[in-house]
Amino acid sequence: MVSGGVDTVAAASLAADTQVTPTMIRIQDVCVEYQQKGKESKKVLNSINLDVRAGEFVSLVGQTGCGKSTLLRLVLGEEMPTNGKVLVEDGLRGQPDRHCGYVPQKYSLFPDRTVLQNITFGQEVTEVGFFGRALPSRRALRKEFQAQALDYLRRMGLRESDASKYPHQLSGGMQQRVAIAQALIMRPKILLMDEAFSALDPGTRTGMQRLIKELWRETQTTILFVTHNSREAVTLSTRVIALGRPSGSDDGAGIVLDLAVPENANEQTIADLIRRVETDTFTDGIL
Ligand SMILES: Nc1ncnc2c1ncn2[C@@H]1O[C@H](COP(=O)(O)OP(=O)(O)OP(=O)(O)O)[C@@H](O)[C@H]1O
Ligand SMILES: [Mg+2]
Repeated sequence: MVSGGVDTVAAASLAADTQVTPTMIRIQDVCVEYQQKGKESKKVLNSINLDVRAGEFVSLVGQTGCGKSTLLRLVLGEEMPTNGKVLVEDGLRGQPDRHCGYVPQKYSLFPDRTVLQNITFGQEVTEVGFFGRALPSRRALRKEFQAQALDYLRRMGLRESDASKYPHQLSGGMQQRVAIAQALIMRPKILLMDEAFSALDPGTRTGMQRLIKELWRETQTTILFVTHNSREAVTLSTRVIALGRPSGSDDGAGIVLDLAVPENANEQTIADLIRRVETDTFTDGIL
């Protein structure tokens, strides 16, 4: 399922399992190259082959600039690969749709909408439509969306009184939690989270980690989760993928580790896996 230089034991067990669980995301021989004005083009991703099964919680790690966000944007359909294919539910990825939730690395809230309006925006557009807002039959639906949005707001640890605030009145960490609520309320089949917890203080971060794991268990959403925190990657996910490239190479990053995380791993196993991720991802000479 993955290209050379990766954990073959994990890859072999995945191959066996795919017979029962369908593949949700297939990344096939993907390369990404960016054209640069007056310079040689820049290779970012090189020959990425990766299958993600429905219901997997996959963390993506790797040094800064190795192409993690680029990979998420390919799965979202916001960007196309230079070579290769990205298939989602066996269809070729063309453009973003409501089945794919996305929490980008940079805050993306609408500055002129309140917190509540930001959270309900996706549902309003897909279920009510821009012109249906005033129809009496739609008013009940909008009320329902608002009730759901308030529920998500509370689950994110924000107050009901924050609902009427505008993004600029919130801290970075609060804005990030609104962005997470905005993605979750759509109940996407696939959830892409790009360093979604990085702006949070340690206590809030632990709370959000617990919440996302709970939601994942409840909904069996397929999650791709980018993080720089190897403990977070190992304790949250079912599988850790590390991107990297040989030092000095201009070939773009490939997959250097594909590690299955056993369910209910004990502290010793977790510590061993973290060491493995850190050695393979962050050691000089690998990146
Ligand atoms: N549209 C673009 N045009 C040119 N270069 C780009 C473009 N988008 C990304 N890059 C370059 O591609 C490389 C990978 O970027 P990307 O944002 O995917 O890395 P990343 O692994 O997410 O890094 P970080 O951990 O810092 O978020 C970087 O060198 C970046 O400058
Ligand atoms: Mg990034």
